[in-house]
Amino acid sequence: MGKVTISTLDKMKANGDKFVCITAYDATFSRIVSEAGAETILVGDSLGMVLQGHDSTIPVTISDMAYHTRCVSRGSPESLVIADLPFMSYTTAEQAMDSATQLMQAGAAMVKMEGGTWLSDTISKLVERGIPVCAHLGLTPQSVNTFGGFKVQGRTPKEAKSILADAVEIQDAGARLLVLECIPSHLAADISSKLDIPVIGIGAGPGTDGQVLVMHDLLGLTSHTARFVQNFMVGQASVQDGVKAFVDAVKSGEYPREEHCYN
Ligand code: KIV
Repeated sequence: MGKVTISTLDKMKANGDKFVCITAYDATFSRIVSEAGAETILVGDSLGMVLQGHDSTIPVTISDMAYHTRCVSRGSPESLVIADLPFMSYTTAEQAMDSATQLMQAGAAMVKMEGGTWLSDTISKLVERGIPVCAHLGLTPQSVNTFGGFKVQGRTPKEAKSILADAVEIQDAGARLLVLECIPSHLAADISSKLDIPVIGIGAGPGTDGQVLVMHDLLGLTSHTARFVQNFMVGQASVQDGVKAFVDAVKSGEYPREEHCYN
């Protein structure tokens, strides 16, 4: 695969080639993801749920994220490592700069943050100083208490319009990548076609440029079964084979199917 950079993802979008992102939190899984050919690894704050046993991502701290980012980057992946800025670690541009510095120095090549228009100034400042940003819209898990649960977003025309406007604004502010989580497929496809930057979907249908799943979900280890989750271990002999099955299914367009989508 060779070392993946943001330019690799730009080229893949331009060529219509689907790319893959999988969460990892340690060196072993980082190597497995990279060897399976996933272009990007997300050190997600989902670690608060799948590793630490919390019922949301809210308790995760910047030192947790820096620790796991160091572990993942030691897996020597060719994949691009993206690390999540956790809850309340980017409330101002200055705080975001300090938090992002910790993750970049821990080995991330890009940081991800949840939110739209209100983050524009922060995104421009980070990008100006050499920190690439991935934005995250739709069901942003750090806002679970505002949403009243892990609920699909963007179903009303008003919500859909607002997510599209946020996406355009964060691109204009300099974001290089966007995650869309749990929104109707037609909205995600529309946003992906309108933006120049690559878009990664989770529960957002087949029309995005890439797909991401949480490692524990795709390995069938989690008890919750969101509509978009598929257990890729079925019929596989090893974890490596399960991860590779997900990578192959995204690249061939076999995943996600209609049954994984929201309308
Ligand atoms: O934390 C995470 O794993 C994420 C993905 C669900 C996109 O943000």
